[in-house]
Amino acid sequence: MRILLLATSFNALTQRIHVELAERGHELSVELDVNDDSVTEAVRLFRPDLVVAPFLRRAIPEAVWRTVQCLIVHPGPVGDRGPAALDWAILEDHAAWGTTLIEANATFDAGNIWATRNFDLRAAAKSSLYRDEVTEAAVACVIEAIGRIEGGGTTGRPLSDASPGGGSWRPAIKIEEREIDWSCNETGTVMRKLHAASGQPGIPDITLGLSGRLHDPWPEDVLRGPAGAVIAWRDGAICRATVDGAVWITAITPEPATGSRRFKIPATLALAGRLDGIPEQPIGLGTGEGPNTYREVSYRETNGVGWLSFEFLNGAMSVDQCRRLLEAYRYAAARPTKVIVLAGGREFWSNGMHLGVIEAAASPGDASWANINAIDDVACAVLLTADKLVIAALEGNAGAGGVFLALAADQVLMRNGIVLNPHYKNMGNLFGSEYWTYVLPRRVGPDRVEAVIGSRLPMGAAAAQRLGLADAVLPNARPAFRAAVQEHAERLAADPAFDRLLAQKRARREREEAEKPLEAYRAEELERMRLGFYGFDPSYHVARWRFITREPIARTPLHLARHRLLNVPKT
Ligand code: COA
Repeated sequence: MRILLLATSFNALTQRIHVELAERGHELSVELDVNDDSVTEAVRLFRPDLVVAPFLRRAIPEAVWRTVQCLIVHPGPVGDRGPAALDWAILEDHAAWGTTLIEANATFDAGNIWATRNFDLRAAAKSSLYRDEVTEAAVACVIEAIGRIEGGGTTGRPLSDASPGGGSWRPAIKIEEREIDWSCNETGTVMRKLHAASGQPGIPDITLGLSGRLHDPWPEDVLRGPAGAVIAWRDGAICRATVDGAVWITAITPEPATGSRRFKIPATLALAGRLDGIPEQPIGLGTGEGPNTYREVSYRETNGVGWLSFEFLNGAMSVDQCRRLLEAYRYAAARPTKVIVLAGGREFWSNGMHLGVIEAAASPGDASWANINAIDDVACAVLLTADKLVIAALEGNAGAGGVFLALAADQVLMRNGIVLNPHYKNMGNLFGSEYWTYVLPRRVGPDRVEAVIGSRLPMGAAAAQRLGLADAVLPNARPAFRAAVQEHAERLAADPAFDRLLAQKRARREREEAEKPLEAYRAEELERMRLGFYGFDPSYHVARWRFITREPIARTPLHLARHRLLNVPKT
């Protein structure tokens, strides 16, 4: 089918649906919802059989839904209506929730129902639920509906059949309604409020005199203090006491100066100069088990395998985070194991440099330079690991330098539902580093390098495997994925052929080092990056600012809006 994806932004859910529909051979184009005229024009140019709106903040223009069938993903169960569905579900502590595919008509979220899925509502951040349960449910709904349409189905089930009252409309949540009352809100309430505001908009608050929005809570079981007080800090995060416990907050968006825009940075960076007298509570490289606390990097071992997990918010890796990861990697590399699994985080494996920390720096050029070098140091340590096999196991999505960092490993395993963006082009056409000029051709062959790095579109795990970026695609369900990675890693550690595999790896590295030293790849890449950071062309700095401050776009980029490139014949 010819399908137009209509979305407020090309976010993770829209990308995943793009990947799934492309994999099924549908002809796709994307229009970002800039205004009614551009949406109407997109439909006129592309003449789609169907419009799917995975993430849309405004109503579809009547001229469009009267012309072509439009199906909208709503992140709520049948009968739920309104723009803050997941936020309300989390705040009200529902046990189960859902996602529904609704046909657009004159009444918001009240059209015919084409498909729906329910799921248990995990105690997790809205952005995590959105990227996981909602996304899986939305994909299932879209595929079911397309199957019905292809089979001749023309109409969904009227909402009034399922919800005789016409469903229940829940309004948007005003920002002031989200505030935490530290004098009386218990930890559970504080966590729920922060979870419901995760990603956007965050919780407005004043912390140590700084006005800003709080993000990304982690529960704390041990530390205690006067309610509302900042009682500790570690690894970029602050710990704040509640009336009955404490929570860690890892990121803050400081209130910007008038006329400027806000963006997220590590909490301790936002509070620089305000933390005097508040103790740092460093934490060792634990297993991630035991009392709840905030731990970004954790390490454990099972049967000859060392597992390194890194839960960096949004997959963004600052200089400090890269250094902590490198230290942990060196520890893992020195352990008497045979295999190291780089497990990344639940949501993201890595999205490369921390663009927020770079934006906040006095010299973003210098900060970018330091950040890319810090990531390169991690990649280099992985590439130079001579006495172990290293597996990158991507349970979460990866983008830009994060993808190429994974390719430094000897083997790359991917969860079936992840989305990769293995290119730097969208960030002001940066050249990129992370030794990609070595690891990418080594994996996919020189002929396919351009197909990876030159594309600006997201890629699923199956396509990544076809191109050679992944060695294996493992089940989408997380427990099955984790079990499959464990089985594979432990089998590899116990493999009688392990020593031979290791010898082959060493021989290859020595041979390739003799052909061209690793340092030469890095130096050449960094020379190109230097131009992006310090040269006359400001594209990277402009793109970073736009991305990190979520600047509304004025038109859909042409690599997405294929209908604006194609010469579609008129009937
Ligand atoms: N640094 C800082 N923040 C980052 C980030 C990075 N490298 N990558 C993602 N984020 C943040 C976004 O700003 C957004 O923050 P918000 O919650 O405040 O809106 C959040 O992560 C989610 O990002 P979003 O773009 O909505 O996620 P997505 O899953 O829809 O898209 C990517 C994934 C990878 C396509 C997209 O995040 C991206 O292009 N990231 C930048 C990658 C990059 O260029 N890195 C630098 C070069 S190495």
